[in-house]
Amino acid sequence: MSKVQALDRPALNALLCAMPKAELHIHIEGSLEPELIFALAHRNGVTLAYDSVEALRAAYAFSDLQSFLDIYYAGASVLLQEADFHDMAWAYFLRAQADNVVHAELFFDPQTHTERGVDMATVIHGLKRACDRARAELGISASLILCFLRHLSEDAAFETLEAALPYRELFIGVGLDSSERGHPPEKFARVFARCRELGLHVVAHAGEEGPPEYIWNALDVLKVERIDHGVRCVEDPALVQRLAADRVPLTVCPLSNVKLCVYGQMSQHAMPALLAAGLCATVNSDDPAYFGGYMNANFIALFDALPQLGAAEAYTLARNSFEASFAPAADQARWVAALDRCFSG
Ligand code: ADE
Ligand code: ZN
Repeated sequence: MSKVQALDRPALNALLCAMPKAELHIHIEGSLEPELIFALAHRNGVTLAYDSVEALRAAYAFSDLQSFLDIYYAGASVLLQEADFHDMAWAYFLRAQADNVVHAELFFDPQTHTERGVDMATVIHGLKRACDRARAELGISASLILCFLRHLSEDAAFETLEAALPYRELFIGVGLDSSERGHPPEKFARVFARCRELGLHVVAHAGEEGPPEYIWNALDVLKVERIDHGVRCVEDPALVQRLAADRVPLTVCPLSNVKLCVYGQMSQHAMPALLAAGLCATVNSDDPAYFGGYMNANFIALFDALPQLGAAEAYTLARNSFEASFAPAADQARWVAALDRCFSG
């Protein structure tokens, strides 16, 4: 693989942009750009608390996860019709294609919408139509992961699961997101057990702001297949060993971590330590409209701040993204072959 040698910065950035990659941690509601929020508000007659796109964007200065979530849920209030969900996801797929994302697994938060009187069918059908269109028109493979809001009760999660089951074939798994601290994984033990019985894939946010114990419990109680974020695992060497031994993927989101003050600056990011420990870490955008960029912006910001990351790490991260995906093995093999071609040119 000739490009896994030292490259100068422009060549490395070009490679980061050009390489095929999978995105496994994107909250589709977090891809709503301010311009689209205003357009949908206009279309649906929704009044926003901000006068302009600029005023809204200026409010995107976060001190922690909760300060972001407050504004993120307010932004999602413009989503009412099936077409709104389609248009939001379609806009994301166009950005993803520009970043050479060939596969995306999209999180969505149904409770954010059903609590406002929007039907589960409206949400899922709108998103699914965009996924089908992405495959047909952009060649991007895409699937949906339904997330339970962890600040709500487990009973509410069960009700959400029940409401989604008529559309069981339209999503591949469930996740756990929203306010992490004070809402440990074990709060959702029973509903995750039920989801596993149903044959759904299971993932959970853990170790973003929460302690390593939350990652242990996501693994041992919820029995998740991937950890979303997970960066605080580095505080617990036994946990790092466990994640490495079981090759549990971490869907890491560099720009998010800096925007939400998990790290003071990107140069402090744990990614080099995660890769050095042999973990199956991946790069993702989380909520790109709020955190300053999509996939390639995340790769470039990470690699720019951490000069010890080079072409070998770029290859590993892209390869990990395919291995960690829930896509069929044949698709994964095809994408890895395309990645190999990109690095041998
Ligand atoms: N929902 C949207 N983005 C999130 C994040 N970074 N952490 C937890 N919940 C979220
Ligand atoms: Zn997330």
